[in-house]
Amino acid sequence: MGGKIGELEAEKHVQYILLVEKRKDDFESVVTEHLRMNGAYWGLTTLDLLGKLEIVDQDEVVSWVMECQHESGGFGGNIGHDPHIVHTLSAVQVLALFDKLNVLDIDKITNYIAGLQNVDGSFSGDMWGEIDTRFSYIAICCLSLLQCLDKINVEKAVNYIVSCKNLDGGFGCTPGAESHAGQIFCCVGALALTGSLHHVDKDLLGWWLCERQVKSGGLNGRPEKLPDVCYSWWVLSSLIMIDRAHWIDKDKLIKFIIDCQDRENGGISDRPDDAVDVFHTYFGVAGLSLLEYPGVKAVDPAYALPVHVVNRIFFSR
Ligand code: FPP
Ligand code: ZN
Repeated sequence: MGGKIGELEAEKHVQYILLVEKRKDDFESVVTEHLRMNGAYWGLTTLDLLGKLEIVDQDEVVSWVMECQHESGGFGGNIGHDPHIVHTLSAVQVLALFDKLNVLDIDKITNYIAGLQNVDGSFSGDMWGEIDTRFSYIAICCLSLLQCLDKINVEKAVNYIVSCKNLDGGFGCTPGAESHAGQIFCCVGALALTGSLHHVDKDLLGWWLCERQVKSGGLNGRPEKLPDVCYSWWVLSSLIMIDRAHWIDKDKLIKFIIDCQDRENGGISDRPDDAVDVFHTYFGVAGLSLLEYPGVKAVDPAYALPVHVVNRIFFSR
């Protein structure tokens, strides 16, 4: 493989993540205050994949995460914010990184998630009811990590996801909605975690996914769109789950991600020369992890957590 360890500015990316964490009251943080739980998951998982999670004060993070839990059992994006299933998964993932899932009241959080399942098997994101296959994935991923999938109707959940499959082999956010690589990750991930990948036409979907690679080596999320580092994750994790990762040019994708780094101040952007952010830094590093880039720990394509964290949950009890 073409990528050399010297080309990834790992130490600069660690410093960038730590700096973003410190600047809690600058402009970028003010506009993303409601997203802090997601940001914590992106930033901390990046640090773990780069072998630097121990720099963080884990007690401080864990107590902040728990302060974001609402009496309903769901977690908000920050203290005092309304609960949402997206932040609830991020909270579970952050606790898993620190081996602290034991601080959770399992019934409380799993009842919250189970309460968001609708009669057709779909999931709403919160009490306001928006339905999306993202929320199906999140519910299944959360409950699987907590080993409580029996709290929901898995068969109906799977049937709903299958009803969002399109003729091109991909999946959308609701039945009939166009295929989109982000939704494909969610649907394939949910099917993988429930042992239901036989519902996927692997060759057809693999073809659609590998067509996402453009000349520069980067991947886009839909036909005719620009390439974007975060699709290195959404597309490649899906290809790995259906055993078709060898259908893309991995060396060219590594080069594209490496070219999206801010070599001076750290961080990774969506495409070369754009401004960096924590979201794309995480998905760039996680993409390199899927590409087995040297010096980056392995990530699990379905749980979106480091493999050693997933193994600790399932194999060390
Ligand atoms: C593209 O978003 C991505 C998606 C639609 C998938 C989002 C998935 C989740 C929230 C599930 C949790 C994810 C993980 C990794 C644990 P976009 O709005 O950037 O799409 P655009 O490129 O079309 O703007
Ligand atoms: Zn992006």
